[in-house]
Amino acid sequence: MPRTEFIATGFHVPERIVTNDDLSHMMDTSDEWISQRSGIKTRHWVSDGETGVSLARDAALHALSLAGMQPDALDCIVYCTCTPDHFEPGNGVFLQRELGLTDIPAIDVRNQCSGFIYGLSVADAWIRTGQYQRVLLVGAEVHSRGLDKTTRGRDTAVLFGDGAGAAILGPTDDPRRGVLSTHLYADGRHAEKLWVDGPGLAHDPYVSEEMLRQGKHRAVMEGKEVFKYASVLMPQSVATALEASGLTPGEIKLLVPHQANLRIIEMVQRAIGLRDDQVYANIHKYGNTTAASIPIALHEALCAGRLSRGDLLVLTAFGSGFTWASAAIRW
Ligand code: COA
Repeated sequence: MPRTEFIATGFHVPERIVTNDDLSHMMDTSDEWISQRSGIKTRHWVSDGETGVSLARDAALHALSLAGMQPDALDCIVYCTCTPDHFEPGNGVFLQRELGLTDIPAIDVRNQCSGFIYGLSVADAWIRTGQYQRVLLVGAEVHSRGLDKTTRGRDTAVLFGDGAGAAILGPTDDPRRGVLSTHLYADGRHAEKLWVDGPGLAHDPYVSEEMLRQGKHRAVMEGKEVFKYASVLMPQSVATALEASGLTPGEIKLLVPHQANLRIIEMVQRAIGLRDDQVYANIHKYGNTTAASIPIALHEALCAGRLSRGDLLVLTAFGSGFTWASAAIRW
């Protein structure tokens, strides 16, 4: 059975940069508070005319051009997002249309910050069984339009940003390379600890002025709980990934964790016992872009020469659900 390799990666973020000082003009917050608690300095927000799908399209075209491929070489799209442009249909079909494609399948993966690794796991299974040969895996989010940009929403609004990252995946027969494992987890007992309650069909009517007045359409979070679980479960998922392939932390060339909070990344690094050069972080520039954070960070790390052929790459993520995941990849 072949393994799955990354043929190319790419990303796209909106041009508009929003600094912590910009936020302090919208709500009662400060650069000092945001930097100390999260490490975030700036994030990118969409402007008029941009959508999640337009970000995803530009990230996909970036990856395709680096792969030297035209869109019609793709035979499947896996689109990971928790901020879809519409309730239905999913963003995958809109991206397919934007790329000028018809007929190939487009699946949407709704696993929030773990979305990219969940999507990778799905794509990897399909590629290994030979069902698809050239899979476009995209993580793309537009958070900015959904954030409560008043003091009421400040604990959440300062953390999230917009962006998209993409990877082109395909089979390799080289037994020394490719995706070694993916491990996926979920614990729905914590679903309401980071969620958007409505609009939703659990409500009748499913959207109402009262719902909007109460702010149910905004993401709300029990930040301390999220922090507590993330800093334990991400290292655990990495340990499982390593054990599954008989590897040790010292063999990791690069850990690319989901970029939720620099303090969480630092705790994960300490828990696994990694040096600074073994961990990649770019949250200071983009904030938390949920399913897009890993592919954006991975692309930047590759451009910075942090990963060479044969190196061990490990991914880990944690987020709303709760869901969490890891992947080990021999680059
Ligand atoms: N600016 C200034 N003050 C803020 C603020 C902001 N943006 N957001 C909250 N505060 C205030 C709170 O109101 C509180 O004030 P009080 O003490 O007067 O009540 C104070 O800061 C401390 O709030 P608290 O919630 O205890 O802060 P914290 O130390 O838990 O940090 C987070 C908050 C959100 C930064 C932190 O919990 C966190 O990062 N959690 C994980 C979030 C995450 O990563 N989510 C995505 C997961 S994928």
